[in-house]
Amino acid sequence: MTYQTTKLRKVVIIGTGFVGTSYAYALLNQGVVNELVLIDLNEKKAEGEARDLNHGMPFGNPMRIKAGSYQDCHNADLVVITAGANQKPGETRLDLVEKNARIFKGIVTSVMDTNFKGIFVIATNPVDILTQITREISGLPKERVIGSGTILDTARFRYLLGEHFQVDARNIHAYIMGEHGDSELPIWSHVQIGGVPLSQYAGIDDLYNHHEMAELFENVRDAAYHIIERKGATYYGIGLGLVRLTRAILNNENAVLTVSAYVDGQYGLEDIYLGVPAILNENGIREVMELQLNDKETEQLHHSSKVLREMLDVGLN
Ligand code: LAC
Repeated sequence: MTYQTTKLRKVVIIGTGFVGTSYAYALLNQGVVNELVLIDLNEKKAEGEARDLNHGMPFGNPMRIKAGSYQDCHNADLVVITAGANQKPGETRLDLVEKNARIFKGIVTSVMDTNFKGIFVIATNPVDILTQITREISGLPKERVIGSGTILDTARFRYLLGEHFQVDARNIHAYIMGEHGDSELPIWSHVQIGGVPLSQYAGIDDLYNHHEMAELFENVRDAAYHIIERKGATYYGIGLGLVRLTRAILNNENAVLTVSAYVDGQYGLEDIYLGVPAILNENGIREVMELQLNDKETEQLHHSSKVLREMLDVGLN
């Protein structure tokens, strides 16, 4: 069955650093879009990246790739922002708030000046806060401003669980929720291995105080620090996560992903963007899924929301 799409399948990437170019390279490999525009303050860099990608076209999938300007945003389906300062070794994502909030105010205004009517996807850290700032500045409906959230953390969680139990990660159901950062939390109560609840599959009564599971979660939460101290930045995982998010939207998949979505009432939280399982389709976020969390998870999620609220006040001032 082929989708009769009314979309251009046009994506504009703002920022051609490691994350933006990894995302672009993955889009070319997976043949997800028809048109890709690269924007960067460093116009020569954007032009060089576009040429390098175009020369790989015969090995990839046909699409139009060019370096462009904000004017190219007016008819884009997605504008994906990866621009901004990134974490230095030992720096937390929240340390980036003030620097990147200033950068975003300029970028989002420039996009909206083109009468952009598509969907924003934010990947720059601290992603939850910058997604909320993007929604505030753009005035777009909340369902059309989406952050990469904890999609990569959830992927890391599933990967490490798969390695630990020697099961294909695609057959593991598991979520990381909350801040994409130090206060994120594992939803142990909903982890299933091939449909079997983890506690039953692994014979573990108390997953929250089990040494190996606690260590596994710490490796998920701290993965970026461990990678940054070794190679200076992370970009392949998030680049592939952004392609998954792009496919869910452009192919109208109604797929569930733990993106940074606007929560207002769900989980007892109000007026905050953070990582929650949400259904994504061509209109952006169709709905936020409300899991039945246990008391410990609810408490941790509220703590994560509080951490974000405090930093949001910094970013919005
Ligand atoms: C990481 C970046 C994307 O978690 O924050 O690798």
